[in-house]
Amino acid sequence: MAKRLAVLCSGGDAPGMNAAVRAVVRTGIGQGWEVLGVERGYAGLIERLFCVLTLRSVSGIVHRGGTILKTSRCRRFRTPEGLRAAADALRAHRIDALVAIGGNGTARGAIELQRYWDGHVLVLPGTIDNDLAGTDYTIGYDTAVNVALEAIDRLRDTAEALDRTFIVEVMGRDSGFNALDVAIAAGAELALIPEAPKSPAEAFAEIRRAHERGKTSCIVVVAEGHPHGDGRAIAEYFASQDKPDNYRLCVLGHVQRGGPPTARDRILATRLGGYAVRALEQDATGMLVGEVNGNCTLTPLTEAVNTKKKPRHELLQLLEATAL
Ligand code: F6P
Repeated sequence: MAKRLAVLCSGGDAPGMNAAVRAVVRTGIGQGWEVLGVERGYAGLIERLFCVLTLRSVSGIVHRGGTILKTSRCRRFRTPEGLRAAADALRAHRIDALVAIGGNGTARGAIELQRYWDGHVLVLPGTIDNDLAGTDYTIGYDTAVNVALEAIDRLRDTAEALDRTFIVEVMGRDSGFNALDVAIAAGAELALIPEAPKSPAEAFAEIRRAHERGKTSCIVVVAEGHPHGDGRAIAEYFASQDKPDNYRLCVLGHVQRGGPPTARDRILATRLGGYAVRALEQDATGMLVGEVNGNCTLTPLTEAVNTKKKPRHELLQLLEATAL
């Protein structure tokens, strides 16, 4: 009897998840697996929302954001009762291996699931936050950075026309990868990130200095998880210190998570999906499938979730040096 593989997406959707699902389905079927999809992530696993995926089920999705399998954030999966129900569902459907695509919460869930189910479990890193260790980049991150970059390129027109400073808040939960990379690529004056927080007063002093150097408009990128104030708090502080009309806030929010994945995300997703199937053939389990220094890698899930991945400090210095 053919071995059975189930694939699901969990947590926040990320552009490239569909490309990953497609790669798992096509390479899995190519290797002789029967592949099932689980709709709505871990919640769907508990509710037994299985569907058979064929080669044609994943046609025409490589370029689409979101996830055709739908996703969810599931509190019940964090309880012994929920985990037991999920494990029972996997057994009832004779699943041999599960590939879960998602971020930190998904990886933690996969670790817990292994205590109740003895099938093989692999996680593909799918999150715009890039906050998982065991991979240089997560699926969806490149797209989210590029969406924010395009938005800032547009904001610049107004900033320059009206001599304004735009405070742009980007996603990233409690990590600053998004904000820092976006700031560098956008040529922003300042990035406020959780890994190197600044008080609103310090941030304002930097913008003042930029004006003294002759700048008439500025871009400040704020990570949503910046502990000394999110975008709104920073914008309100700046406005309280000067003519309020000189400052505008733009919170990108979920716009950053939508739309077609970049080539880089599609390739990463396809590569990791294919590698996951190969790894299952070699009996791998309990691993995060990632790409490190250009190579596909397996990292124990516990290591991936317990290691804090931080943006390179040198990039922050580079931002300061090039914002002069
Ligand atoms: O983890 C991805 C992410 O988009 C974070 O950047 C953000 O903090 C969070 O999800 C938003 O979650 P939700 O879509 O549940 O509001």
